[in-house]
Amino acid sequence: MNSILLASNRGPVSFTVSEDGVLTMKRGGGGLVSGLSGVAKDQGVLWVCAALSDGDHSAVRQAPGGRLDHAGYKTGALRMLDIAPAVFHRAYNSVANSTLWFVNHLLYDTPNAPHFGTRFQRDWESYRDYNGAFALALAEEAGHGARVMVQDYHLTLTPAMLRAERPDLRIAHFSHTPWAPPEYFSLLPDDVAGEVLEGILGADHAGFLTHRWAGAFMDCCETVLGARVNRADRTITHEGRVTRVGVHALGVDGKALWARAAEPDVESHMAALREQVGERRLIVRIDRTELSKNIVRGLLAYREFLAAHPEWHGRVVHLAFAYPSRHDLPEYREYTASVQRCAQEIEDEYATEDWVPLILNVEDDYPRSLAAYRMADVLLVNPIRDGMNLVAKEGPVLSPRCALVLSREAGAAAELGPHALMVNPYDVSGTAGALHRALVMPEEERARRREGLESAATALPPQKWLAAQLDALA
Ligand code: F6P
Repeated sequence: MNSILLASNRGPVSFTVSEDGVLTMKRGGGGLVSGLSGVAKDQGVLWVCAALSDGDHSAVRQAPGGRLDHAGYKTGALRMLDIAPAVFHRAYNSVANSTLWFVNHLLYDTPNAPHFGTRFQRDWESYRDYNGAFALALAEEAGHGARVMVQDYHLTLTPAMLRAERPDLRIAHFSHTPWAPPEYFSLLPDDVAGEVLEGILGADHAGFLTHRWAGAFMDCCETVLGARVNRADRTITHEGRVTRVGVHALGVDGKALWARAAEPDVESHMAALREQVGERRLIVRIDRTELSKNIVRGLLAYREFLAAHPEWHGRVVHLAFAYPSRHDLPEYREYTASVQRCAQEIEDEYATEDWVPLILNVEDDYPRSLAAYRMADVLLVNPIRDGMNLVAKEGPVLSPRCALVLSREAGAAAELGPHALMVNPYDVSGTAGALHRALVMPEEERARRREGLESAATALPPQKWLAAQLDALA
C-alpha cells in the first residue's frame, strides 16, 4: 500500500512496439511529465496513468496488476490503466481535449461550435467511466490516510469519485490549464458544468498555477453551484464540505535542465544549427502544434517585422519548432497545415540564395530544442491563453542572452512580466514591434532582464511545487 499517489492521463514513460513485438520505452512528453518525472521517482510516489499507445497496452497486459515496476521496468513505481480504446478516445479526445481544453483556453469559434447533443452525452458517459477507472485504481493502491494528487482537466471527476470510495484519503486536484470565466464556462451543459466543479470540490485542496485561474474557478463555483466562496481565506464551501484553493506557480529545476542541456547530443545539435544559420541573430519559438499556442499569429508577426525592417534581412533567422500534438483531432491537423502554409509564404516572399529567413521544424526532438534555447537571442512565447508555459521559463535559464517576448495571457506572465516584453497575443503588429525591440535591446538591459527572468523561472522548481502540495494536504 502506498502513502503518496499521483494520477495523470499521461505517464512518465511510453512504449513503442516493433513489428516483431519488441517493446522500447521512452520518456513521456509534455509540460506536466517533464516537470514531475524526476521528483516523483525521488519521493517514492506511486504514479497512476493511462496506457496511451499500442506499446503501452502491450506492456501493461504483461505486467502483474498493471504495475510496470513489478514487471521489471525502471519506471519508478508506476501503474498504467488499460482502458478500453473506445472509452479512452471519447474521454481524451472528445471531452478532455475538444471540450474542457477548448472551454478553459477560450478556443471556440462560437457561431459554429460547440454542439452538445446526444453524441456528447455518450462521450460524457465515457469520461465518467475513464475518471472512475482512475478512482478505482487509486482506491485499491492507497494506504489508509494516504495523500493523493490528481492532475489536470482529464481527471476532474476523480476526486469526488475517490472520496466516495475512500473518505479516509487526503486528496488534491491540480489544474495545469487556465480556468475559464463563468460566462464562458457556462457554455457547457448545466449538468456537466456542475459535475466538473463538484468533481474537483471532492478534493481537500484545489491547486492552480496562478491567482487569475484560481479566481476564475472560485467565480465559477459561486455562479454555477451557488457555493460559498471566501476569497480572503481561499476556501469554497459546498454541501457542507470545505475545499481550500491554492496557487502553486510551477517553475523549472535550473540545475537539472542545465545538466541535460550540456550533454553531447545537445552540443552537436548546436554545432549543426550554427552551421545552418551562421552568425545571424536567432528568434526562437518551441511549442506543441497547439491551437492555443498561437503559432500562426507569431509567424505573421515575424513577417510584419521583416516587412517593416529591411535592415534585418539576411541578419536574422526565426527557428520555429512546432512538434506534433493531438493529431487525432481534425482541428489540430488543419492547424499544422496552416502553420506550414504560413511558413512557406514567408519563405517565398523573403528567402534569397544565401539567406533562409525561417526554419520551421515539425518533428519532436528534445535535444535540438535545448540547443535552440541555448542559442536564442529572442524567445517568442505568444499563446492565446496558457496555464503557465514552461518554455518561457526554460529559455531564459539556458540562453545566456535571450530577451523574452511574452503573451500577457500566459500564466507565466504573472511572474515573468516585469522582465519580459509583454504583448497582446492577438496584436500581430504589436508582436512584430516587440520582436524588433527585443533584437535591438541594449546589452546591459538584456542582461538585467535575463537575470530577473531566470530567478523568477526557478523560484518554485518541481521538487518544491510537489512539497507545497503535499504540505497543503498535511
Ligand atoms: O497544459 C496541460 C497539459 O497536461 C500539459 O502538462 C501538457 O504539456 C499537455 O497538456 C499535454 O497534452 P497531451 O497529453 O494531450 O499531449
